Amino acid sequence: MTLAPTGPMLIEARDLSYRVGGRLIMELGAFTAARGEHTLLLGPSGSGKTTLINLLTGLRTPTTGQVWIDGQEMSALPAGARDALRKRTIGLVFQTLRLVSALTVRQNLSLAQHIVLGRSEAAEIAELIERVGLSHRADARPRELSQGEAQRAAIARALCTRPALVVADEPTSALDDANAQAMADLLLRSAAATGATLLIATHDTRMKQRFARTLELKPALQAAA
Ligand SMILES: Nc1ncnc2c1ncn2[C@@H]1O[C@H](COP(=O)(O)OP(=O)(O)O)[C@@H](O)[C@H]1O
Ligand SMILES: [Mg+2]
Repeated sequence: MTLAPTGPMLIEARDLSYRVGGRLIMELGAFTAARGEHTLLLGPSGSGKTTLINLLTGLRTPTTGQVWIDGQEMSALPAGARDALRKRTIGLVFQTLRLVSALTVRQNLSLAQHIVLGRSEAAEIAELIERVGLSHRADARPRELSQGEAQRAAIARALCTRPALVVADEPTSALDDANAQAMADLLLRSAAATGATLLIATHDTRMKQRFARTLELKPALQAAA
């Protein structure tokens, strides 16, 4: 196990690369994010944003390099401990939302809390659902929601386990200008309320003005690299 560089960083990464069949898909020399420090991960489609998120959250193991989350080296942990660290520390909003289709919005949050916290808090769930503007849709199932509503439900689900880190993959790409700005407001306000750190991947340059700190991935890396 490699020791994490000292400091209060929530995320640290060094010399990351990811290859599939010899093809270099993602490369990043160094990245850190302190607690409460938000980062916009920018790059065109195919530049490796989703891959980088998968590496930083331990969903994939890098070909080279290390990732530390909250001082623990992800890839040095056994799979079970890595999953537990991710569940405890990170709220994920996937590009494909992954809400449980048989459950209502409220039930999706309740299940997430049960899995991570071992119990669920109805009042806290109701408050979160209100904060994302879905009180009137709390008992609807995912397929009954608009794309924007489903995205807000997925954000509420990510937040309901009180994660130190909230990671969202393309949360605004399907939204018009007004809704995209509302989504950015929601993420920033929610993070401020809970003290969470945001990492948001997007090819949506409209988000650039909302985040002080951006990390830009280069367009598609080529095979010979
Ligand atoms: N498991 C995989 N096998 C093969 N190619 C992959 C795999 N995952 C991603 N890629 C390729 O890696 C590149 C980066 O993909 P991705 O991380 O999804 O980019 P982005 O999220 O920025 O659009 C793309 O060319 C994609 O086709
Ligand atoms: Mg992607």
